[in-house]
Order: sequence, then structure tokens, then C-alpha cells
Amino acid sequence: YNKVISIQDITAFRSRSEEFFPLEWYKRMLADHPVYYHEATDTWNVFRYEDVKQVLSNHQIFSSEGERTAIAVGAKNKEGGIPDKINLTLKDPPESTRRRSLISAAFTPRALDNWEPRIRQIANKLVEEMKPDGPVDLVQTLAAPLPSMVMADLFGVPTDDSALFKNWVDILFQPLEKGSEQETELRKMSAAKQYYEYLYPIVVRKRSDPADDIISDLLQVDIEGERFNDDEVVRTTMLLLGAGVETTSHMMASLFYSLLYDDPQLYEQLQGDPGLVPQTVEEMLRYRFHISKRDRTVKQDTDVLGVEMKKGAVVIAWMSAANMDEQMFANPFTLDIHRGNSKKHLTFGNGPHFCLGGPLARLELNIALTAFLQRFRRIEPVAFDLEKSLVTSAPGQSLTQLPMRVMQ
Ligand code: HEM
Repeated sequence: YNKVISIQDITAFRSRSEEFFPLEWYKRMLADHPVYYHEATDTWNVFRYEDVKQVLSNHQIFSSEGERTAIAVGAKNKEGGIPDKINLTLKDPPESTRRRSLISAAFTPRALDNWEPRIRQIANKLVEEMKPDGPVDLVQTLAAPLPSMVMADLFGVPTDDSALFKNWVDILFQPLEKGSEQETELRKMSAAKQYYEYLYPIVVRKRSDPADDIISDLLQVDIEGERFNDDEVVRTTMLLLGAGVETTSHMMASLFYSLLYDDPQLYEQLQGDPGLVPQTVEEMLRYRFHISKRDRTVKQDTDVLGVEMKKGAVVIAWMSAANMDEQMFANPFTLDIHRGNSKKHLTFGNGPHFCLGGPLARLELNIALTAFLQRFRRIEPVAFDLEKSLVTSAPGQSLTQLPMRVMQ
């Protein structure tokens, strides 16, 4: 594990709240150290929009193989391993492209259309259960349960079991932190085994009795003779959970945090014009998703970023910083749902590994916010201790609670 890089070593953030919203750090790095070599971790760090985009998309020079700051996906036992066939995030084209096509069979536009009413039903139910006038915790009531309930539903497993799902996912995708790697790994292996034993019989059943869900879609994939067996389907769902649950929860909580604290007029504006919801979600993905970053390994000596980088060097592309680059976004440090080009954010990556679940994440965020706006006329912040309400998660610092008052 000595290769795992802790981003704290690079950023030297002094608190969780600073990492939750590191605008000052981005500002400094963008202006003074846009391409920055950090000696202790032996990494190049890249912040500007065009550079980040280049690192993510130019796979001839920047390889996805051998990532070092990545979250360990799954666990190190046989139940927790991602099948080689679909392990795409650490491969380059053409290999990653072939593997990607296997998974994308589960993310067709038609599938998304079919899912929309199911997601709406889950969102409406969660929002209905919130009691008006008293304080509610947005994380416990909506941001944490929704994405795992949606994935459970889209996999075709009983919604009642989504709490089990959430628990396994939380453990499986915990980042490895220096000092406690082995302990974390043991917990991951145990969670992977339980998850596997739970899902395997469901997959076997769907092989003979398919339905309209992701597991059934994966069971039917046939791309030039390449197919999934039952075991591979179970382990593929693990990859999807890892990629899609915590990220979406993290964004949803941050989005509501932003409505409460960044621009208190915005909620009322959305009430008056719900058509503004999609562009609000997009601007929030630009402005409030921290910390989105990916690393790559230099494949051949290069100076495309204006400095000499040697073959084998590790480059970290800081997408959340690129989202604040004034060369791309006017007044980048301001939340502005009317800026018109929010969608150019790099929160979902760029190039051959561009997030496969982007449309699903957007759909969940749009539906959740819309359901919320329909039920509650007004929201108000309730004082809480931000620093004590953050926890290290795969995406960065995630809110463990977000108390607010909701009024009908
Ligand atoms: C890849 C972000 C939600 C599935 C990625 C990448 C990013 C990302 C940055 C690119 C990785 C790279 O370049 O190496 C996000 C964010 C999300 C989100 C911010 C929510 C706000 C989802 C959801 C799913 C999903 C809901 C599906 C259930 C994937 C998959 C990949 C991926 C399968 C791998 C693609 C590849 O390597 O070719 N995501 N994601 N993501 N994402 Fe997402």
C-alpha cells in the first residue's frame, strides 16, 4: 500500500470544511502553480481547464493504467474483485473501449426513459415522508437513501433491502487511509462476501426470469460473442454501486447546502420557474462538487503541458479546480445558474473514460430537486456545526447531516 497517495499531503488543508469547499486553494493554485510538482508525493498536479481536459482525454500520453490516488474499488477477495472483463477504469483504449461497451448496454437512452417514473416514485415517497415545519435532516431523509434506493430498484432487488445496500457500499468504497489500510481491507472483504451471497441467487433467478432492470440487461449482453456469466454480473453491479451511489449522494447533499447557504434567493426563484432546475443542477455540478480529481501515468516523455515530464510520472488532474478556471468560466467563484456554459464542467471527466452514469446522476438530481420544490414552498437553514458534520468519503468531505426547516 505504500503507493497510495493521500491528497492531504498535497493540499495541506487545515480542516474538513476547507476541503469541503477549497475555493481559496484552487484560486491560489490556478494563479500561481497551474502545473505543480509536489516533491513528497512525487506527483505533477494540474489545475487549469485545458490542461486537465488534456490529461483526461489524451490517452496516448496520459495512461489510466497504474493509478495511485484512486479509491480501491471492491475488495481483495474473490467476491470483491471486479471482473477483468469490465475493469475499464484502469485501462486505455482500445481495451477500455471494448469493456465499456459491455457496461454501456445497461445505460441506453431507452433504459433512462423507463427509469424516470421509477426514480420519481422513490423521490416522491422520500419527500412525502418529510414532516413540514419542524427541522428535517436532508442527508438522512433524501441525499443518503435516494441513490442507493434507485440503484437497488434499477438492479431489480427489493427496495426494502436498500439499507443493507447502503451499508455494504459505504464499507466497500471507503478510501484507504495511511495507517489503517489492513483493517479497512478486512471490513471490505467481509462486506463483499455478504453482498455477493445476497445478490448471487437474485442474478440466477433473473437468468431464467428476466425483467426490466440492469441485472437482466447485463445478463443479455452479447457483444461479438462476449457475454457475462452470473458471477461476473454480481461483481459488475459492485462496480456500478461504487461509481454511482456515493458520488450522487455527495452531490445531492452539497446541492441543498448550496441552496441554503450560497444563494438564499435561489430556492424562491426556482419555485417561480421550475424550468430552471436543469441548469441549476448543472451549475451545482460545476460549483459544488469537491473534490473531483483523477490521476494518470505519463506513457512517454512529454512537454505538452509546458514542462518536462518523464515516462512513469504520475499526473493528478484536478477537475474541481478546472471548473473554477476563469479562462473557461466568467466569474468562476460565483454561483450563477444563468452563465450558459455550466455544462462544460469537468465533474464527470472527459474523453474515453467520461462518466457512464452522468445521465443517470443528472436525472436523480433533477427529479429529487423537483419533487422537493413541489412539496415545500420555502426552506430555511438550521444552525449546525459544519466541521463536525463532515466525514472523509470517496469523493472528498461529505456531509453527515444537513438540518433545515421545510415549509409547505
Ligand atoms: C466514470 C464522476 C455518477 C458510473 C466517472 C469519471 C468521473 C465520474 C469523474 C471518470 C473517471 C476517469 O476519467 O478515470 C461521477 C460523478 C457522479 C457520477 C461526479 C455523480 C454526481 C455515476 C453514476 C454511475 C456512474 C450514477 C452509474 C451507476 C461510472 C462508470 C465510470 C464512471 C461505470 C467508468 C467509465 C470508464 O472508465 O470508462 N464518473 N460519476 N457514475 N462513472 Fe461516474
